[in-house]
Amino acid sequence: MDAISVIRAKRDRAELTDDQIDWIIDAYTRGEVADEQMSSLAMATLLNGMNRKEIARWTAAMINSGERMDFSSLSRPTADKHSTGGVGDKITLPLAPLVAACGAAVPQLSGRGLGHTGGTLDKLEAIPGWRADLTNDEMLAILGDVGSVVCAAGAGLAPADKKLYALRDVTGTVESIPLIASSIMSKKIAEGTGSLVLDVKVGSGAFMKNLDDARELAATMVELGTDHGVRTTALLTNMATPLGLTAGNALEVRESVEVLAGGGPADVVELTLALAREMLDAAGLGDADPAKALADGSAMDHWRRMIQAQGGDPDAPLPVAREQHTVNASSSGILTTLDAYAIGLSAWRLGAGRARKEDPVQPAAGIELHAKPGDAVQAGQPLLTLHTDTPDRLPAALEALDGGVLIAPDAAPATPPPVVLERIA
Ligand code: URA
Repeated sequence: MDAISVIRAKRDRAELTDDQIDWIIDAYTRGEVADEQMSSLAMATLLNGMNRKEIARWTAAMINSGERMDFSSLSRPTADKHSTGGVGDKITLPLAPLVAACGAAVPQLSGRGLGHTGGTLDKLEAIPGWRADLTNDEMLAILGDVGSVVCAAGAGLAPADKKLYALRDVTGTVESIPLIASSIMSKKIAEGTGSLVLDVKVGSGAFMKNLDDARELAATMVELGTDHGVRTTALLTNMATPLGLTAGNALEVRESVEVLAGGGPADVVELTLALAREMLDAAGLGDADPAKALADGSAMDHWRRMIQAQGGDPDAPLPVAREQHTVNASSSGILTTLDAYAIGLSAWRLGAGRARKEDPVQPAAGIELHAKPGDAVQAGQPLLTLHTDTPDRLPAALEALDGGVLIAPDAAPATPPPVVLERIA
């Protein structure tokens, strides 16, 4: 077997054989296939696609490239969720302790942000002392004790995906449905969760810009999970505008704590509860009431224990940026657009995200929104506050907002569009 014949086959739109797929994933993980060869195959796949049989085999090969975790010793059913990535998407922070408070074990292996989308680990690292790297034994102990854990995937889990994802990120080959589906599902299946809810984002701030692509991605992932014995469902959710009123690490932690305290923006609460209900149903705990667990403080109690178990101080003040800059409404009318991609890019330029994997992020950088699409605004009223430790980043961050904030003088106030657009099971 050799890499060139596999690349040529996909270039010429042939179906890859099981042997070709098994070999190329294994040889790439071992370093026998070079990055430039794999990136050529990733581009051929992005352009020519894969059928369901190829995607299933590709996913299995990525799972087999590393270890599989085992949570069968836990007394609670396991439930996990995965988001395909968005702007202001802090949902894992309130969701994991909430679902644990309702009786499930939530083993949430999360990632860091890259590009304009934020990463859950970067958000939690804004909490003084909190650490993302746990051994498998530590993870199991926290799951047994607290019921939820959010941490980085260990090096042994789907190493083929770790290499391939980093390569796709720098070769313009992220936005491929077969590659995204196999990347996400190989990690989730290897992680060993019993059930999984996928939050597939749709809109300008998401990898999937339209509903048809999001449906296809969701259906592909649901089928992969089901075929591997993981009860899997998906919600397609709106990412045309950021979730909640914050984008940026410490800002999003603050907003998540507001949700756990029984407050917080309506869209964040709505999506947290919708995903919690899906997870609890899939875990066989459909009688639990997540709204009650938010209201009675039990979700907050789990949050505090979860943060402490990973070295964090839930009472420590969160970092505050050195510089704040307000963007005011240029005219009166209805705010019709607050574009998720523009806000995500601007927050990233302020320092909330990283350009290269090894870059640090500024925990306090980001954007606060003072209005949402559909709201009536007056000329001169604050619309956004930009936070950064490095004011020389402001001009580029402001430029990213060009065209992303639109006010219509004659429009009528509108109710916000639904957060959950569709369910796929
Ligand atoms: N998240 C992943 O884990 N992989 C992808 O390919 C895209 C989003």
